[in-house]
Amino acid sequence: MPELFEILTKEEIAPKIYRMDIYAPAIAQKRRAGQFVILRVYERGERIPLTIVDSDPEQGSVLLVFQVMGKTTAMLSDMEVGERLADFVGPLGSPTHIENYGTAVCVAGGVGTAAAYPIARALKEAGNHLISIVGARTKDLLIMTQEMGAISDRLELTTDDGSYGFHGFVTDRLKKMIDEEKVHIDMVLAVGPAIMMKAVAELTRPYGIKTIVSLNPIMVDGTGMCGMCRVRVGDEIKFACVDGPEFDGHLVDFDELMKRQRMFVEQERKAYEEYLKDKQGKCGEGER
Ligand code: FAD
Ligand code: FES
Ligand code: MG
Repeated sequence: MPELFEILTKEEIAPKIYRMDIYAPAIAQKRRAGQFVILRVYERGERIPLTIVDSDPEQGSVLLVFQVMGKTTAMLSDMEVGERLADFVGPLGSPTHIENYGTAVCVAGGVGTAAAYPIARALKEAGNHLISIVGARTKDLLIMTQEMGAISDRLELTTDDGSYGFHGFVTDRLKKMIDEEKVHIDMVLAVGPAIMMKAVAELTRPYGIKTIVSLNPIMVDGTGMCGMCRVRVGDEIKFACVDGPEFDGHLVDFDELMKRQRMFVEQERKAYEEYLKDKQGKCGEGER
């Protein structure tokens, strides 16, 4: 029997993007589409939120897919099967509101594809005709295309550099679908970098297409108490960890979100550099 929060599997699925199954039976049982966990790699480490991409209630495992962005994700990627996380709290966040809208288009960028997958799957299971547009900077960074293909009625792949599929941004592909192909779309779900979700919301606004976005502000406690994840949605202030992370994309103040996401970049850069330096030092010692 594995220990609680033990890493059961680990695989690098694209450069600096990993998938890991973590042993967390209670979360695996309870989680619903759109929810996430907050974990700490070690006792004095910071808390980071990661989406629950999938779960296997029988095995008691929760699937994470994450990209190395800085110190904590780098530390996580350096852990091995059999090691255990200091803690792993969830499921957090409001589950996605799922209904049969008709034709739903899931627009996913980069590692956002991992967070989009469980919601897209729930939309498909609710009877929607599901079209997925999955994009990345370049071919090597396109992830979960097989999984997305298996649940979608139609899958379109895009790369910014044209190395695979449609040459351009996911928004360019969506625009073509709306303007040239005249596809009737009842709702759009967008998950990815804030700048991408903003562009999707701006594109769909004049057409009046309902657009849901999954926001990724900095989170600390994940339970609505610290206020770190506050976002402006229309006239209201919301806490993404408890009121979201999904909101009406036409109402979100993306510029404020992006500003707040960059609040600690200097400290984050230093922490990452120090971690890499320490790691190099340790590798060097091992070699001697
Ligand atoms: P750092 O160098 O510390 O930070 C890099 C950037 O990541 C920062 O500039 C900031 O914008 C963001 N960030 C830093 N700390 C946090 C934090 N505590 N909370 C949120 N963002 C932070 N990433 C994935 O790769 N896969 C996922 O499935 C995924 N799901 C997420 C779900 C939610 C609800 C949210 C809010 C974020 C999710 N993220 C996901 C983003 C992930 O949490 C950050 O990439 C991670 O926290 C970066 O930590 P770091 O120490 O490695 O990088
Ligand atoms: Fe603290 Fe949302 S993370 S209130
Ligand atoms: Mg960090």
